[in-house]
This record gives sequence, C-alpha cells and structure tokens, in this order.
Amino acid sequence: MQASSLEIISNQSDIHEHLEEIVQKHLATDFQKPISAHTQAVFDRLNEQVLQSQKPVILDSCCGVGESTQHLAELYPDALVIGLDKSACRLAKHDALSSHNYVLERVDLNDFWRLVAQAQWPVYKHYLLYPNPWPKSKHIRRRWHGAAVFPALLQIGGQLELRSNWKLYLEEFQYALHQAGFMDTTFNAFQTEHPMTPFERKYQLSAHTLWQLQVDLSSQVRSR
Ligand SMILES: C[S@@+](CC[C@H](N)C(=O)[O-])C[C@H]1O[C@@H](n2cnc3c(N)ncnc32)[C@H](O)[C@@H]1O
Repeated sequence: MQASSLEIISNQSDIHEHLEEIVQKHLATDFQKPISAHTQAVFDRLNEQVLQSQKPVILDSCCGVGESTQHLAELYPDALVIGLDKSACRLAKHDALSSHNYVLERVDLNDFWRLVAQAQWPVYKHYLLYPNPWPKSKHIRRRWHGAAVFPALLQIGGQLELRSNWKLYLEEFQYALHQAGFMDTTFNAFQTEHPMTPFERKYQLSAHTLWQLQVDLSSQVRSR
C-alpha cells in the first residue's frame, strides 16, 4: 500500500539509542537558557489571572488553532483553560465563540513551562495533542521528551495526556517518564467520533491509528 502524505517516515524503528542518556542528563542539570521577554510578559499577565481566579488550570500546550482549547473550556466550565502555541499564524485562525473561560496565548513552551513549574500553578489537566513528531533520528532533542525542558514539563504536574499518530513518539515519551520515575501510565489506541483538533480529524480521515498516553503527574510517588 502506498504511504499517504501524512504517514510518518522515520529512519528510527525503535526507542532512540541515546534517549536514556539524554533524559538522565536533563533530569540532572538545570535548563539555563534565558526566558524570552515576550513569553515572560505573557506569563506575568496570565499569572495575575490564575492567582485572581483561584480556578483549577487546564493547559492545552501546542494548541495550534485552539479548537481543542475551546472544546476543553466547554467541557470544564469551572476551570481556566489556557491554550498555548508559538505560531501567531495558527492562533490567528481561531474562531472565538461563546465560552469565556479560556484564553489563547503565543509563547515558547521551552520558556513558559519553566515559569509555570516555578510558580506551582494549580494545573489539573495538561494536554499535548499531536506535538510535532520530528521523526528524523538526529532531531531527538526537538521531541518534548528529548528536550531540556522535559523536567519542567513533569514538574508542572496534573493529569498529562498526549496524543499522536506516531506510536514511537509516545513509546519514547513513556520510556522517558519511566526514566523520571513515573511508572504508572496508560497507553492505548483509540477512535473518536468527535475529533478534538484539526490534526486528529485529518489523521482519522486518513485511517491512521490514533494513540494516547496518559499519566497522573501529581498523585504518583516517583519511584526514584
Ligand atoms: C502538529 S501541530 C498540532 C496542533 C494542534 N494540537 C492540533 O492537533 O491540531 C503542533 C503545534 O505545536 C506548536 N509548537 C511547536 N513547538 C512549540 C513551542 N516551542 N512552543 C509553543 N508551541 C510550539 C506548533 O506551532 C504547532 O501549532
């Protein structure tokens, strides 16, 4: 069968050979890259809102056009839902509708997650839906579990849910979670009648298997 143009083509067929080493290094060192002024300013503004609202926070990281953010806001009317993406172009395509308990902001998550972790926001749920796969082996450090910000992502806590059409991405993420001591994860294929995001919709229409990985980062006692 011919590969569809959406098919993930990778020169990797298994967990990246250096992933353990990379994750261990990131867990053992501080990520010192300076925070960009733009992301700091957005965080400061949102921090006021989080403190004032006293609502549980739901993060929708890599939200793209914000379709999932809006959906989550409708699903959780008592939460403050924050959609985050670095692409002004994608965010600008968002059609704002009725719900008022969500915001969309342009940030670099490499910076933003560190600020959220430091401020200990009351994050109840954290969604990471269809992150860029970076399928070439040499780009392992661009995948979130291979990035220096990975420990901060874990420190944010909450119930983290990732979705991807590339099973290996989530297998690697699960492997990295295990490296960090989070052993209790749920990993499965799923189908949905109501896609949460444009990427989910187009992958499902192309008959891709959709995968999800869930971990509760707040309730687990880390085993290392
Ligand atoms: C494949 S798209 C998925 C978008 C959306 N979740 C969906 O499923 O339709 C990945 C998104 O991650 C965003 N992204 C990648 N790196 C980022 C970063 N460092 N900070 C913020 N957003 C980032 C991109 O701008 C892009 O919108």
